[in-house]
Amino acid sequence: MSEDRKPIIDVANIKSKKDAKSAVQKLSDAIHFHNYRYYVLDSPVISDMEYDQLLLQLQELEDRYPDLMESTSPTQQVGGAPREELGLVPHPIPMVSLKTVYDEDDVHSFDDTCRSDLGITQVEYIAEPKFDGLAVELVYEKGSLVVASTRGDGETGEDVSANIKTIKELPLVLMFRDKMKPPARLVVRGEVYISYARFNELNQRREEEGEPRFANPRNAAAGSLRQLDPTVTAKRSLQIFLYGVAEATGYSFKTQWEVLHTLPKWGFKVNTDQARICKGIDEALEYHREINEKRDGLPYEIDGVVFKVNNIADQAKLGMRVRNPRWAIAYKFKARQETTQLLGITVQVGRTGRLTPVAELAPVNIGGVEVSRASLHNLSEIERKDIRIGDTVVVERAGDVIPQVVRPVEEKRSGSEKVFNMPSSCPICGGEVSVSSDKRTAVCMNSLCPAQLRRSITHFASRSGMDVEGLGRKRVDQIVDAGLITSVASLYSLTVEELASLERFGERSAQLLVDEIAKSKNQPFHRLLSSLGIPHIGTQTAKVLAKKFGSMEKLMEASMVELLQIESIGPEVSQSITQYFADENARNVISELTLAGLTMTGKEETLSEQPFAGMTFVFTGTLTKWNRDEAANIVENLGGKSPSSVSKKTTYVIAGPGAGSKLKKAQRLGVQILTEDEFAELIK
Ligand code: IVH
Repeated sequence: MSEDRKPIIDVANIKSKKDAKSAVQKLSDAIHFHNYRYYVLDSPVISDMEYDQLLLQLQELEDRYPDLMESTSPTQQVGGAPREELGLVPHPIPMVSLKTVYDEDDVHSFDDTCRSDLGITQVEYIAEPKFDGLAVELVYEKGSLVVASTRGDGETGEDVSANIKTIKELPLVLMFRDKMKPPARLVVRGEVYISYARFNELNQRREEEGEPRFANPRNAAAGSLRQLDPTVTAKRSLQIFLYGVAEATGYSFKTQWEVLHTLPKWGFKVNTDQARICKGIDEALEYHREINEKRDGLPYEIDGVVFKVNNIADQAKLGMRVRNPRWAIAYKFKARQETTQLLGITVQVGRTGRLTPVAELAPVNIGGVEVSRASLHNLSEIERKDIRIGDTVVVERAGDVIPQVVRPVEEKRSGSEKVFNMPSSCPICGGEVSVSSDKRTAVCMNSLCPAQLRRSITHFASRSGMDVEGLGRKRVDQIVDAGLITSVASLYSLTVEELASLERFGERSAQLLVDEIAKSKNQPFHRLLSSLGIPHIGTQTAKVLAKKFGSMEKLMEASMVELLQIESIGPEVSQSITQYFADENARNVISELTLAGLTMTGKEETLSEQPFAGMTFVFTGTLTKWNRDEAANIVENLGGKSPSSVSKKTTYVIAGPGAGSKLKKAQRLGVQILTEDEFAELIK
């Protein structure tokens, strides 16, 4: 770190690259230092104007000599270029989560286990706030930040390096203070969060711009950090607290307390003010009570406290459960509650055409977050809680959970409150609404409902569905808004030209998406089934159905009675299936998907009744209508097989231009040969 806090550099007069390099170095060092003073220590030593001057000079030099820009340059903090997707990063040591408890008894039993396993009568704990944000891991090599990732599934996270760099209080280059040399390799973990002030501002702006509000600061922080465009992240003013070290070459920490007090020396922000050494569990519980009292006064959300065994050798002795350490626990706070007025109940139409009642509330501040809407789940819940329009209601907000209406305050009723009824037609398309007998679900029956379309396509393309990479919510909206698709089936006829004509789509990304969509044709039948968005048909039920019926054709013909014979399928599910397939639009979608070559059969089918049962088809040469996989799928959908080599048993060889040895072999063996057109005729 340069001692030169205000390097005086005449940028205009720099003529050689060598001079530029040294100036870039000096300016970067100085800016890193001032960031630390300003954002971490909260005690700047230069004015904002002087700071801006340094940054401008650096920017100017980097513009002139782009290859001098380091990946850790302070100019990265305004956000780099947008990407198509976030890459993946494996965690060197799995990022586990903590066991969560809600009452003192569970905390005592945690302490009992620690004491008995360690063979001591009192354990020293470090109590820390449990920040309600998003866990991240940061890797520094030779003092520079090289990669930052989210927790992901614990083994692999998403690469958020460019976005993390926009967090001003995070050192991109480690500091060297109090003789604590930064380790050659350092892996640290912490929580990215957003303050209440920034969160409320952000939501206000989103509302003005017609975008949906974030339900809570956690979602806002996560959404902001996982942005594809880092300049968007930069505007969100995220913050970070570090709380752990996974690796630090040359250092072996003895206690968590030592970790918390070492990290700041390398420039990290640690919430040392709120952390406390607790001798025994009673002191830890006292800490929980105190912080609970204090939490409304904090500028950011915490949803509980974390107790960690302080001694790191003892942590190792206690070891791990499958997914959580045995040496730490999260003790959550109870949900916060406030009362407000229920002004009305609106109805939202979801992905599968499901109607959800939403409480429209007189805005109320619940622990720092302004709440004006809350889910009411379904009609049955509203009736069970006897919630009426006009009621004064108790509203609850628990950590990262969407706000809930807990109960009406009956004493405050005036008699003018109104009972809510589910509309009989869809608020979006006017389609017929069907309410289940237990009143838990209300569904719009029109599969062409536009609200349904966007959502059903997003669901169809999602990772747990047909897994079409690059077809997220935004792109779906864009494609639907442009009128390019009218059902999930029309995805398969999208062309590169159509997509490339859309904003933010290049020729290359259009091609990639078309390829991805085509690739999804080979997803197994049960995946297709669960991707269709048939109410109540998730992955598990889809697997059961695929196994039982073996093909789309048979499933479509199945009666309620047949379906009910399956053990795991009840009346609601069987009704939903028969209703879905009775709809003409749905049937059309299925036949379009079949023609596009998607997999319409499962493995366990009985093939005998299908038209191609017992037949084998070998494709050779160039096909123009389908690629090989699609053609093979068509054959398999109709009960046939499509091996890659010709034998005496082959029923047909379909030969396109350029066919060679397979065609010759077929002729030699006397196997019947078809052109692609003849094959197309056959499948009709
Ligand atoms: S320690 C093995 N300390 O809570 C210990 N976590 O399920 C791992 N969190 O994923 C975490 N504040 O996102 C730790 N002071 C704190 C924390 C904290 C918030 C989050 C973190 C983690 C989750 C625990």
